[in-house]
Amino acid sequence: MHVLVTGGTGYIGSTAVEILLSQGYQISILDDCSTGHADTAPAGVTFIQGSLLNGGDLAQALVGVDAVMHFAGKSLVGESVEKPVMYQQVNVQGSRNLLDEMHKSGVTKLVFSSSAATYGEPEHVPILESAPTKPTNPYGATKLEIDQMITAEATSRDIAAASLRYFNVAGAYKSDRGWLAERHNPETHLIPNVLRSTKENPVKIFGTDWPTSDGTCVRDYVHVVDLIDAHIKALESLQPGKHEIYNLGSGDGYSVRQVVTAASKATGHEIPTLDSPRRAGDPAVLIADINKAKSKLGWIPTRGIESMVTDTLASFN
Ligand SMILES: NC(=O)c1ccc[n+]([C@@H]2O[C@H](COP(=O)([O-])OP(=O)(O)OC[C@H]3O[C@@H](n4cnc5c(N)ncnc54)[C@H](O)[C@@H]3O)[C@@H](O)[C@H]2O)c1
Repeated sequence: MHVLVTGGTGYIGSTAVEILLSQGYQISILDDCSTGHADTAPAGVTFIQGSLLNGGDLAQALVGVDAVMHFAGKSLVGESVEKPVMYQQVNVQGSRNLLDEMHKSGVTKLVFSSSAATYGEPEHVPILESAPTKPTNPYGATKLEIDQMITAEATSRDIAAASLRYFNVAGAYKSDRGWLAERHNPETHLIPNVLRSTKENPVKIFGTDWPTSDGTCVRDYVHVVDLIDAHIKALESLQPGKHEIYNLGSGDGYSVRQVVTAASKATGHEIPTLDSPRRAGDPAVLIADINKAKSKLGWIPTRGIESMVTDTLASFN
């Protein structure tokens, strides 16, 4: 099968490209490299350095393609509050353009990177796919709008689609060419930031008085390799006219302090931290209910927080 990976030079997309190639899929990549890195694109793939916002680039990227994995987009919550129009443009309009070009090119299969940010502050934890969707920032709102657009597309144009709502993606993948890992700038994700923490620039712990066992926020982390395994299972399970939504996490929660402890163990030294005030809009606990992905896709995440930390650490060297 020939898969177009949009955002295929980003953190998750580049890992998808490598794993798909290793499993015999043919790959094209569309990425404008605004936050991705062209050096991750392997030989033997068709790489179009172009944008979701350019119809010509999209049409070129879709040539000969059977299915699309759509990772491309903007994904920083803070930036989305400062630049909501850019998020609307790249994420929502970019996805609209992709769906229209897929229709013109006769491509009917889509797996989309959605987010737990579509749920906002949960009423119940663990969070089911049927939970109310009330995003608390423009980033989450754009992901929800795209999910709704895909549902309409499945009905009106009979496409076969899945939206995968990731919780916190972490870890790294060792390919034959070396490690593929997070190279975000700025890096907003906890695990790389904890591992880079120094006495001079300690990682901040936002809130130590949350109603959790140790007072710090609890989040659900999923290893990027397990995440891509779920993408491939979702791709192979697509049904015409249906849009399925799946939560992807581990189904377990780790507090910020537990992540720091895992990192101290992996590095062999105590990680410096700085207790800081709560951030507005941060829920205390976010944990996915992953039973739908387990039962309908036969997906079981197998890598825990220790591998996410040790793989990220190994990728630094
Ligand atoms: N990392 C996480 O924990 C997480 C959690 C939930 C959802 N997601 C979603 O997963 C996807 C991938 O995330 P990531 O962490 O790999 O981010 P990333 O920034 O590393 O990757 C996004 C890629 O999209 C590309 N891109 C951006 N705008 C584009 C455009 N107009 N045209 C073409 N390419 C464009 C970037 O250059 C980059 O390579 C995103 O859609 C993100 O919202 C990520």
